[in-house]
Amino acid sequence: LRTVLLGPPGAGKGTQAVRIVEKYNVPHISTGDIFRENIKNGTELGKKAQEYMNKGELVPDDLVIDLATSRLLEDDCKNGFLLDGFPRTVYQAEKLDEFLTAHGMKLDKVIDIEVEKEELITRLTGRRVCKKCGASYHVVNIPPKKEGICDICGGELFQRADDTVETVENRIEVYNEQTMPLVDYYKRADNIVTIDGALPLETVFAEIVKSIGE
Ligand code: AP5
Ligand code: ZN
Repeated sequence: LRTVLLGPPGAGKGTQAVRIVEKYNVPHISTGDIFRENIKNGTELGKKAQEYMNKGELVPDDLVIDLATSRLLEDDCKNGFLLDGFPRTVYQAEKLDEFLTAHGMKLDKVIDIEVEKEELITRLTGRRVCKKCGASYHVVNIPPKKEGICDICGGELFQRADDTVETVENRIEVYNEQTMPLVDYYKRADNIVTIDGALPLETVFAEIVKSIGE
């Protein structure tokens, strides 16, 4: 299974990705997670990416494309992958297509999760993430059993640096301007499905499974 998860910040891509990779047994490749890992480890890439991420801007294409495509060459991607947060510009999508064609692969499905702006803001400003395993919670919608502690691994929960109101609004604007055009791009290839991400997370997951097939 070779898929891309598309959708605005806060649509639930990361939340669904965890469930999808478990069911279909493919690696979860999140460019956002890779950048955050680099920031944590203080790498050169992390330093460059952080400037853009903290403002809610996209990291420049040339820092993303090789990073993502070289990840796809690793062994665990042989039988498929779930891309989350890449591609994010038409240029990235074209480069991904070139890469896949050159390696005799193609995308099976692009899953576009749609949620309206007000809800996105509520979700992102209330999001808490586990320091240890990366699981996502929401202070109201999806609270952990014990405040500030991850249900899964007992790790400490924190708020992402780009989840402030101002940055969230900019991220949504950037999405509308730079990433939304991908919906039309993939409509031309006729392999995109749009899912209502405002529904409860189990319902959203069931819809995704329906569109991919068991
Ligand atoms: P990235 O890490 O990809 O973040 P994002 O796209 O902004 O998406 P999020 O992780 O914020 O949201 P999500 O859709 O995963 O939502 P979640 O499941 O957590 O990118 C971060 C930055 O990195 C970018 O801004 C950019 O700078 C850079 N970057 C990354 N990739 C790049 C690329 N390819 N090119 C250039 N730059 C790049 O859910 C959100 C909240 O809602 C959670 O609290 C969750 O519990 C809750 N929730 C989820 N589902 C539901 C539901 N059904 N009902 C109620 N609540 C729900
Ligand atoms: Zn955890």
